Amino acid sequence: MKRIAIITSGGDSPGMNAAIRSVVRTAIFHDIECFGFYRGYQGVIENEYIRLEIRSVSKILGMGGTLLKSARSLDFHKPEIREKAFANLKALSIDALIVIGGNGSLTGASIFSDQFDFPVIGIPASIDNDVYGSDHSIGFHTSLDTIIDSVDKIRDTARSHNRLFFVEVMGRDSGNLALHSSVASGACYVIIPEKDFTIKGLANRLEEGNKLNKTSSIVIVAEGNKYGPSYKIAEDLSNIYSEYETKVTILGHLQRGGSPSCSDRILASKLGKASIDALLDGEKHKMVGVIKNEIVLSDLKTVIDNKNGIDESLFYLNEIISR
Ligand code: F6P
Repeated sequence: MKRIAIITSGGDSPGMNAAIRSVVRTAIFHDIECFGFYRGYQGVIENEYIRLEIRSVSKILGMGGTLLKSARSLDFHKPEIREKAFANLKALSIDALIVIGGNGSLTGASIFSDQFDFPVIGIPASIDNDVYGSDHSIGFHTSLDTIIDSVDKIRDTARSHNRLFFVEVMGRDSGNLALHSSVASGACYVIIPEKDFTIKGLANRLEEGNKLNKTSSIVIVAEGNKYGPSYKIAEDLSNIYSEYETKVTILGHLQRGGSPSCSDRILASKLGKASIDALLDGEKHKMVGVIKNEIVLSDLKTVIDNKNGIDESLFYLNEIISR
């Protein structure tokens, strides 16, 4: 193992830079040269890269976003385009690829690794926290902190005006951000893809709160819920329940930015080092994760065939305590 390449791919997440820094510095510690390709797989296809030295990754530990930029490469779905990407890596004498990203990026990693029997190690980074094989993916906790901060502010104005707010959070296929943030912000209801939802059920819940002298309420909506956009939910509710004046706030991409939290910096630092350790141990098609505070290696194939689901207990906890 003499030379490796690193990419950050898919939706960026706070802590990706901390992971890059850890990979680069651990690799150099072991006399392995590092190259960073820009914009995920797209940069590998287009052969756009930079050599990464110890000082190239200075000052990025606390920065959101990604030094290497990111993209969702549709080209990489084509086998002949992957041939081109592989040829670029070979031309540069790259011995292995580290992929920092979420489920889509790790799917690309698995396919690429299989197609060329090439060593690829994945590092889970996604605010959605839906990557199997790690209790947490990089960025989840920072994103939650951002959501909580926003909901606390929304709650101030909700209380002042006796209003009901629907706050929509990210999570295309996953209710993890919504569920965790609802418990942590005291939202009275959460709408997520993993749970059945009816307008009547929500109305009943709000009426229950009303009878308990609740004057304002927050409902957290996962963008990937099966019912529909927050504005539709708000409108359909107002047709059967109009006790509150209703507002909708969509938090959007602010959830993906910002300086990574302490726990995300530590997680990213651990996983970055673990990815190099895995390569030095001769591992080829793996993802590094942390489960119960231990570094765990999982087959990329297992990772992409599964999903980190929701913690059901949080759903019931919220039903009891958020009234
Ligand atoms: O996968 C992370 C994520 O932030 C999802 O929660 C969200 O649905 C998606 O990315 C948005 O992607 P984009 O920035 O490409 O619109």
